[in-house]
Amino acid sequence: MSARVRLDRLLANLGYGSRREVQGLAARGRVRWDGEVLRDASAHISLDADLPRRLTVHGEPVDPPAPLTLILHKPLGVVCSHKEAGRSVYELFPPRWRARDPALSTVGRLDAETSGLLLVTDDGQLLHRIISPRAAIEKRYIARLARPLRGDEAAVFAAGTLVLEGETTPLAPARLTPRDPTTAELIITEGRYHQVRRMFAAVGNHVQALHRDRIGGLTLPDDLAPGEWRIATPAEIAAVFGG
Ligand code: URA
Repeated sequence: MSARVRLDRLLANLGYGSRREVQGLAARGRVRWDGEVLRDASAHISLDADLPRRLTVHGEPVDPPAPLTLILHKPLGVVCSHKEAGRSVYELFPPRWRARDPALSTVGRLDAETSGLLLVTDDGQLLHRIISPRAAIEKRYIARLARPLRGDEAAVFAAGTLVLEGETTPLAPARLTPRDPTTAELIITEGRYHQVRRMFAAVGNHVQALHRDRIGGLTLPDDLAPGEWRIATPAEIAAVFGG
């Protein structure tokens, strides 16, 4: 049986306004259920998969309720945190989504100057299952380097003994595959601060451009241009753990 929730609570949690404001929206006839105006904000609504088809606000399908997971092609120049200065990834979504409860969070972070696959979710359990060090989910990066590869990088990264500057615990083994003399694929299973850039710095190089194209078995979809996103399907979420 699906969960039922009061209309005003549902719409307030989806960011359409305070409970009082959404009561006003309903009273003004802006909310419809199966095409019929629904003025009673205390009505209970079933949270089934067909909710956005049945419930409209201002004539538009209601936003998807939690749990919601998004696949974003993070563009360059946006930050993953609400607190950092600069444009944030959250500005790529509809403004009311910033008021959703539970809130949307990025699953780990990419630097402002890193592009590529980023998951955004309001499902705290899912987030922790993906970023948990025990899960050791693979993340694949493509790095463009300032200098040609020396030749020993794959062995250094695979050894599981490399200690990054300022740290004491060695990195887990990582897999490097050269694409050309100044471009490499790197698969890591951790998510330390600026990890890929610091790994290449540790072998005397400098990352000029960095892009993530895979998390577990989920690859960045070809049809998502930088800045574009879509709702992840259950199969796509499962793929993260199948890689
Ligand atoms: N490693 C980095 O250095 N930056 C990222 O954004 C991700 C991994």
